[in-house]
Amino acid sequence: MQAWVIGNWKQNPATSHDVNALLDDLCAAISTTKQMSHDNSARCQIMVAPSFIHLAAVNGRLKDTSILCAAQDISGHSASVGAYTGECSAQQIVDAGATWTILGHSERRQYHQESNDSLLQKMIHALSQDLGVVFCIGESQAQYDTKQTLEVIDNQLAVIKEFITQQPELIEALPTRLIIAYEPVWAIGTGKVPTVAEVSATHKHIKRTLAGFADSLSNMTVLYGGSVNADNANSFAADPMIDGALVGGASLKADSFLTIATAFSQASI
Ligand code: PGA
Repeated sequence: MQAWVIGNWKQNPATSHDVNALLDDLCAAISTTKQMSHDNSARCQIMVAPSFIHLAAVNGRLKDTSILCAAQDISGHSASVGAYTGECSAQQIVDAGATWTILGHSERRQYHQESNDSLLQKMIHALSQDLGVVFCIGESQAQYDTKQTLEVIDNQLAVIKEFITQQPELIEALPTRLIIAYEPVWAIGTGKVPTVAEVSATHKHIKRTLAGFADSLSNMTVLYGGSVNADNANSFAADPMIDGALVGGASLKADSFLTIATAFSQASI
């Protein structure tokens, strides 16, 4: 199975100058690192998700490389245009050159009160424009402590089930246009990580749940996210249930990001 390593840049870097410097480092490292040779990049798809303001420029710089570009969110109000101040639609994202969007990141759920209903709308808009979706799920520290992880995840995955009910004609697109990213909220940006065995068991549950929604979802890509770095990437990559990583902090340095990608590309040999 092809691995995915996705860099979520969040509200970084501060300036276009810094974005270009990061891209310079990424492109230079990719062309000189033997491990990220053509064969290996086929085994691990790399993608970066800059903020809206940098999306078109980043895509312009990456369009002749194997690196894909994603948005971090899209408007739930309309797939194309409308009177929605501050929003950016799926169509506009596609026009800027992105082929994927992250949806339901815990920071969006927390700071923008994103609900299952609003995420369903966003998912419908994304897929209607053939924008792939990296759908983030995960439990809080309190939910982890009280062993509610699987219950929370089932509730978040209900969005996918409802999507299938409402858009049955798009089911066939999901195996190639939907990726699940399991990110325990308590592991994001904290340096704390669950054990590989815990992540593996949770991924198994996610894969089984998706397979139960539709036969065509029997082999879905499930990434782990939350404090993945150059030192721990190998241990996650070695587990066959973990198909890649969604990386925040460590994606802002080309070296650490590509070390993570190399770990997953080598593990999938
Ligand atoms: P982190 O962020 O790697 O900095 O923990 C992951 C994420 O929020 O996707």
